[in-house]
Amino acid sequence: MKAEEIKAQILDLTEEYYKEVFAKETDFAPGDRIGYSGRIFNEKDMKNLVSSALEFWLTSGHYTEEFEKKLSEYLGVKYCSMVNSGSSANLAAFMALTAEELGERRIVPGDEVITVAAGFPTTVAPIVQYGAVPVFLDVTVREGNIDVSKLEEAVTDKTKAVVLAHTLGNTFDIALVKTICEKYRLWLIEDNCDALGSEYQYQGEWKKTGSFGDISTCSFYPPHHITTGEGGAVCTNDIKLHRLINSFRDWGRECWCKPGVDNTCKQRYTGQFGEMPKGYDHKYIYSHFGYNLKATDLQASVGCSQIEKLPGFVEKRRENWSYLYAGLKSLEDVLLLPEKTPNSNPSWFGFLMSVQEGCGYTRDGLADYLERHNIQTRYLFAGNLIKQPCFNEMRNKKQGYRVVGKLDNTDFIMTHSLWIGVYPGMNKAKLDYMIACIYAYFKRECPSTPS
Ligand SMILES: Cc1ncc(COP(=O)(O)O)c(C=O)c1O
Repeated sequence: MKAEEIKAQILDLTEEYYKEVFAKETDFAPGDRIGYSGRIFNEKDMKNLVSSALEFWLTSGHYTEEFEKKLSEYLGVKYCSMVNSGSSANLAAFMALTAEELGERRIVPGDEVITVAAGFPTTVAPIVQYGAVPVFLDVTVREGNIDVSKLEEAVTDKTKAVVLAHTLGNTFDIALVKTICEKYRLWLIEDNCDALGSEYQYQGEWKKTGSFGDISTCSFYPPHHITTGEGGAVCTNDIKLHRLINSFRDWGRECWCKPGVDNTCKQRYTGQFGEMPKGYDHKYIYSHFGYNLKATDLQASVGCSQIEKLPGFVEKRRENWSYLYAGLKSLEDVLLLPEKTPNSNPSWFGFLMSVQEGCGYTRDGLADYLERHNIQTRYLFAGNLIKQPCFNEMRNKKQGYRVVGKLDNTDFIMTHSLWIGVYPGMNKAKLDYMIACIYAYFKRECPSTPS
């Protein structure tokens, strides 16, 4: 009983501490820093984190299970595996598709995987690391997503999968991508790291992104829609893929006991695997060359309370995006504004803008102007991944990857585009200030602020 009382006191004090240190809102004054994103948390998140610390379990446990259940319910998928980052999620998702258990559909080195070069590097990294061949298609500038017009042309008898992110929350053309995947029996990995809460209408039904691919991934790094600090998740509706994902996450092992639990299968000492002696401890049987990508309950505990706030966060991101769009609309002759994919309701990660060619202004100039006015900006991640130093060797040898068509829009985004924040930490004053600064850069008078 004493322990419970102490815990209650600690949690009360945690709430008090939160209110004292973090809960005080200060009014925005022009010139104050406006981040492109940031963690939004309350006393519930801090209390969950402290509760988990007091349990001192430290690896994945009951909070992880609860979080996985809540996230799979939210997305409308059957299975969810928490991991320690979005990059780990992409790694586990891809490696699951290389498993021997998948027979002729398994990805082997030299097989091709269709993706885009305008995005985040760790969507593509597992493909390269495994020795499969990324096949790059161009993107469309305003949507920032794969230009599907050449998708079918990119498919060869070596193609095994399509791996794509929903750029800055805007969904790629799921209907067309799924049609091609089904026609050629290709796996689809949906990198949902920047799009948690986005919706897409498919065959008359609105569903969350992250539920369309064979596997989908999430990131909970602080700028993302919800945060666990470091953290990610891999989701699927397929039990076989789920077991493979968990195996690659958990050292490549065959057994599916949770941390700290033995003999879930009740046949721990009776099986025969590979050329191991019959009855060799199932806990130490390895079906795959895996990793340890598990997250901890400390992270999951925060996820459990963050996810309750997610619907509100998503609404706020949509509102902020629409407000910026309305406010910047009359700059369209100098600034290309983002465009929502048809049949989608994005949960925006950011507001993408491209400075029009030949208008006398530049993206770098705009970024510099905004940063000097304390507005944080971001380029679209890696720009054209093929031009990054990590690609030097492959690019110089012209091997290990393929490009279908030209990557003109990818290059355009690399040189003309940037994005600013729409996260729930924005308010009208900050949005108005960002709009006013963008008008000022283009030496235009800012019209009265949109309502
Ligand atoms: C599209 C996309 N995929 C994957 C990741 C990697 O996530 P993490 O930073 O959690 O490793 C990011 C990171 O922001 C991302 O934007």
